[in-house]
Amino acid sequence: MTTVSRETSRPPRIAIINQKGGVGKTTTAVNLAHGLTIQGKRVLLLDLDAQGNATTALGIEKYTTNASTHDFLFANADATAFTKSRYEGLDVYPANVALIRAELELLKLGDDRDRQLKQRLDKANLPHDFVIIDAPPSLGILTLNILIACDYVLVPVQCEYLALEGLTMLIETIDEIRNTHEVDLSILGCLLTMVDLRTNLSQQIIKDMRTHLGELVMKTLIPRTVRLSECPSHGKTIFEYERWGPGARAYEALCKEFLERIEAAQKQQLLHNAEVNQ
Ligand SMILES: Nc1ncnc2c1ncn2[C@@H]1O[C@H](COP(=O)(O)OP(=O)(O)O)[C@@H](O)[C@H]1O
Ligand SMILES: [Mg+2]
Repeated sequence: MTTVSRETSRPPRIAIINQKGGVGKTTTAVNLAHGLTIQGKRVLLLDLDAQGNATTALGIEKYTTNASTHDFLFANADATAFTKSRYEGLDVYPANVALIRAELELLKLGDDRDRQLKQRLDKANLPHDFVIIDAPPSLGILTLNILIACDYVLVPVQCEYLALEGLTMLIETIDEIRNTHEVDLSILGCLLTMVDLRTNLSQQIIKDMRTHLGELVMKTLIPRTVRLSECPSHGKTIFEYERWGPGARAYEALCKEFLERIEAAQKQQLLHNAEVNQ
């Protein structure tokens, strides 16, 4: 257990992370972010994947004249220069290919290279309730910046054969970063995505995950649905594309579980801070 106390007066930062591509990170980042605004929260989504899929999925042009996450990281862009999305309460820092250079640019920063994102976010006086980060499918220096800047990670895991293997490595990496960089980073939960409850394989994977990881596995299961894979090409979230379908209901349940888990974690944090200050 770390002894670092967390600043509680700023919005919690949550990274949607998994070094594996195609597991549902972006789908989760976008629909969780919009779903939380439907629950009355104000959310800032930082797209930190150079592919800019979260940006496109929200119908935002990647090459707007507005500040991108690359500008946010390096050009000292005003922290409030985010782009408003089509959804009330959801703001975005879009990504474009400029972000490909970020790894090299971070390496040039010397001692501060791991903490650039944290420093930028710490300085920003944001009006949001949550900052959600869509991470790239790698464990490079940009991802290290994300892990150091964030309070929580939410790990989407595709419900498939060998799902546990990569996940164990990621959990070990997170533990290591927590110890070596003195950051207070908790795993909010592992979220099973693309679940098909009609197959024995899906049933077996859910069972194995719960046996090995217990409460770390979120109760919410995201089903595999064609609608969820269609909506990004329309620049809409599932809440607009098919409001009452199984995809939207699942992400709505995720938002509720997310809020419950954050609340429980924050209570623990307050207790912990009180102990540290005694
Ligand atoms: N629950 C789901 N059901 C069906 N397709 C999905 C689901 N979640 C994601 N997809 C599709 O799978 C692909 C990978 O998802 P994505 O969210 O982009 O993953 P990542 O960001 O981890 O690379 C995308 O084409 C996406 O539309
Ligand atoms: Mg993605």
